[in-house]
This record gives sequence, structure tokens and C-alpha cells, in this order.
Amino acid sequence: MFSSEIIGKFKAHVTPFYFYDIELLKKTLESVQKAASPYHFMVHYALKANSNPTLLKLICEYGLGADCVSGNEVARALETGFTNDHVVFAGVGKSDEEIKYALSQSIFSLNCESIQEIQVINGIAKSLNKIANIALRINPNVNANTHKHITTGLEENKFGINLWELDQVINVIKPLQNINLIGLHFHIGSQITDLSSFKNLCIRVNEIQQWAIDKQVSIKHINMGGGLGINYNEPDQFPIPDFENYFTLFGEFLELQPNQTVHFELGRSIIAQCGNLISKVLYIKNGSSTDFVILDAGMTDLLRPALYQAYHKIENLNSTKGKKKYDIVGPVCESTDCFGKAITMPETKRGDLLAIRSAGAYGEAMSFTYNLRKIPSSIFSNNL
Ligand code: LLP
Repeated sequence: MFSSEIIGKFKAHVTPFYFYDIELLKKTLESVQKAASPYHFMVHYALKANSNPTLLKLICEYGLGADCVSGNEVARALETGFTNDHVVFAGVGKSDEEIKYALSQSIFSLNCESIQEIQVINGIAKSLNKIANIALRINPNVNANTHKHITTGLEENKFGINLWELDQVINVIKPLQNINLIGLHFHIGSQITDLSSFKNLCIRVNEIQQWAIDKQVSIKHINMGGGLGINYNEPDQFPIPDFENYFTLFGEFLELQPNQTVHFELGRSIIAQCGNLISKVLYIKNGSSTDFVILDAGMTDLLRPALYQAYHKIENLNSTKGKKKYDIVGPVCESTDCFGKAITMPETKRGDLLAIRSAGAYGEAMSFTYNLRKIPSSIFSNNL
């Protein structure tokens, strides 16, 4: 995937660093907008996946909205140029300060996850003399069939308002003068590759829409969340997710009421494949069954393998000869600081550069400074 010219240029940069393929990101953004447009679906980008300012600016230029989960993300989105009517704010634990800030910026919607949160927002909105536009984040109790740590739409998860609470929520909202209910919001999980989970979600949403009609609750916006998975095994063969198939499914199975707008909040599917973590081999060390490749990148730079046992394809950019099995590990003082066990690689030596692929989503964004390590820098293909 990387030309020898690019690999040559990598040598001038201090490792580890994130390398973003801007051309691929542009193609991905074109593809997502093209696939959504026949249905007039509004796509928001989930900043949590990667809020790097250079990438965000490009995403904003392609006309996506912003899905935020903290006051700082709302601020980052607005600073980048996302207009306030395209910014949504979700999250199970919004602080009073974050709510005040979001209301003061008159963003499109606060997606609410509990009765108490709605009451608190009403109180804050009243004190600011504002009307808060809210959507109810509903926990649809639909299985996403993904890793349990990134499943959000089951009753056992902390997210959203449970179905059996909906009648009560409507009764609570009715007398609240500073709350304007504009939508329903759903998100069942992330890295979903089995599209039948989304079909099940559509069926559940249709039932909930019927409930709203019966209750004479008018709903203008339906937000179906994010979650579309990517191919971590073959990033070169599948660099852009099949957005067409994805949106067609919602077009087919979602039964909308007149004048309703459907929103999505995609993170991983937009940004994962354009990002790579580039790292240098520090040492090769003998192990009992396989040798260790010790990298200068660790779990602090890319946490996903340690946290979710996630697979990322790893390539040696300087060697193609030979074949050997290695455990590829980082320098951090934790046994889970491991990018892959018994990985077949070309013969690898000290100084080789390795690319950890599909790392654009939840890579840089989840980096941290344990062991007083540096946050990795980021480098862009159009500015190498
Ligand atoms: N909307 C809501 C309410 C969310 O909670 C999320 C992700 C998204 C949208 C975007 O989902 P996506 O399209 O990226 O799947 N750190 C984990 C993923 C956590 C996802 C959290 N929520 C990972 O590295 O796999």
C-alpha cells in the first residue's frame, strides 16, 4: 500500500507517528455523501473517533455534521467551522457546565439519556432563558453482534432510556416549558459488520414510531447513530466501507413519517482506514516459542489491541524477505502492551519501520501518557 517514495519520506520523521492518507479520506467522504444523498440522510461525523483538527477541517468541508460527546468536542466542532445547527451532543453524563455551554451555543440537539438529565437541562435552559432542543436517546434492546465492550444498545448497557420508561418520560416532558422534543436517537454499538443488526434496529424504531403516533408525540428527527464496521483484515482490498449497501438498508426498512429527517453518526467507517500508526523496531528478542519484535509504539499510542483484543494488520515497510512468527509488542510496562501474537512477518530487524494499519479511528483519539510517554504526532500524505 505504501510506495517506496512515501516509505523513504517516513524516515525523516520521529517515530511513532500517525500517518493519514488524505486522498483516501477524501474518497471516503465523497463516497459516504454520495450514498446518503438519494435518501436525503444527514451524516454527522463522530468526533470521538478522531478529533485531529486537520482531519476535522476536511470532514467539515465535505458538509458533514458533528456528533459530540463532551463540551470540549462541541467547542472543537464549532472552532473547526461546523455550524451550530449541525452539531449534536450526546453522552450519558453531561455536566451542568457542558449543558450550559451547549445551550449557549444553540446547537441542534442535546441527546438525552435519562429522566433526571432532561429535568436538569430544563432547569438550566430556564435559567438561561432558552428552549433546549432535545432528542431522546433510546436503548432499543437490539443486539449489535459485536465485541461486548463496544455494544451499547442492550438493556444491560448504561446508555439510553429503556423502552419501558418511555411513557413516563413523555409524562415528565409534557409540563417542562424549556424543553422542545425534536427527535429520537439510537446507537447500538460499533464495528458492526453483520448488517442484519441494523435491520433489527429499523424494525424496533418502526415500533417506537408507532408508539409516538399513538401518544400523539410529534417527532421530526430520527438519529440512527453510527456503528458501521470496517475490514481490519484487508485494508487495501476494502479501503472504503460499503456505504451504499448500508444506507440502502435503512432506506428500505425504516418507515418514516411525513417530513422526518434521518441522521447518522459515523466515526470509524469514515476515518479508520486512512490512518496508520508508523513505528520503528527497537529490538528483536528471543522468546520461548516466538521471538519478540519490540516497537517504539505501545498501547499508549494505540490502545485498541490491549483494550478489546482488537486485530490490526501489521506490515514491515522495509523487509519482504523470509517468513517468521513474532509477538509484536510495545515498550510499556504492561503485559497487555501487545499488538499481535504469533504474527507471520518477513524477517524483521532493528530499525525497520512497521505500519499498524486501519488505525485512524480510536487510535490517536485514545492515546494517553502512561509511563510519561509522548502523544504521537500526526503526518498527512499531502504534506509529508
Ligand atoms: N454515536 C454514538 C452515540 C456513539 O456512542 C458512537 C461510538 C458513535 C456514534 C460512533 O460509532 P462508530 O461509527 O465509530 O462505530 N473505542 C472503541 C469504539 C467506541 C465507540 C463509542 N461510541 C473502539 O476502538 O473500537
